[in-house]
Amino acid sequence: MTTDKLKKEAAEAALEYIQIGDVVGVGTGSTANFFIGGLAKMKGRIDGTVASSEASAKRLRDHGIEVMDINHAGKLPIYVDGADEATRNRHLIKGGGGALTREKIVAQASEVFVCIADESKLVDRLGAFPLPIEVIPMAQSLVSRSIARLGGQPELRSGFTTDNGNIIIDVRNMNIDNPIETEKQLNQMPGVVTVGIFAIRAADVLLLSSASGIQKIN
Ligand code: 5RP
Repeated sequence: MTTDKLKKEAAEAALEYIQIGDVVGVGTGSTANFFIGGLAKMKGRIDGTVASSEASAKRLRDHGIEVMDINHAGKLPIYVDGADEATRNRHLIKGGGGALTREKIVAQASEVFVCIADESKLVDRLGAFPLPIEVIPMAQSLVSRSIARLGGQPELRSGFTTDNGNIIIDVRNMNIDNPIETEKQLNQMPGVVTVGIFAIRAADVLLLSSASGIQKIN
């Protein structure tokens, strides 16, 4: 089965979590795009959406789905998004698409975070995928030096600006044996906007697709 087919199956499994009248938090990336495609078929039954990126907001609107300002939406019942890596503890690395800050805001504002992914994203330990960190541009050198002191290898994501006007530093070889502590440690660095570890607010449900079907981890 192709990776796209697996992503679509994970995305379609998440549709079962949507209730009539929900305002749905919607993630970013190719797996989330399949979810948007599925959501379009039931758009008459939801009250609207909150998007975690400009790209997803555009895609939702192109499907005729209402996109709301999160500041007017209150607590969201559900957020559905993909991940770059996921563990069985439902700790994630996100931000491969650069939308990590808005993704973390929407995740935090949601009662239930359903993470959708194909089985290739499941890892025993986070960190093989370079860890994205959104940084205020003037802090690029400062943050890079601090990361190097921790043993990571920082690299500026070339030619990329986030929806918030910031840069992304991707970090290789970061020790993430304790995801919650590393998330806290990196969050505290001046100039860091968001670190792509989602462990303090982990996913509540992980829907992993494989050739043998959907595995639910919660
Ligand atoms: C975007 C993300 C995505 O969820 C992550 O990169 C996974 O993307 P895809 O579904 O395309 O594999 O965090 O910032």
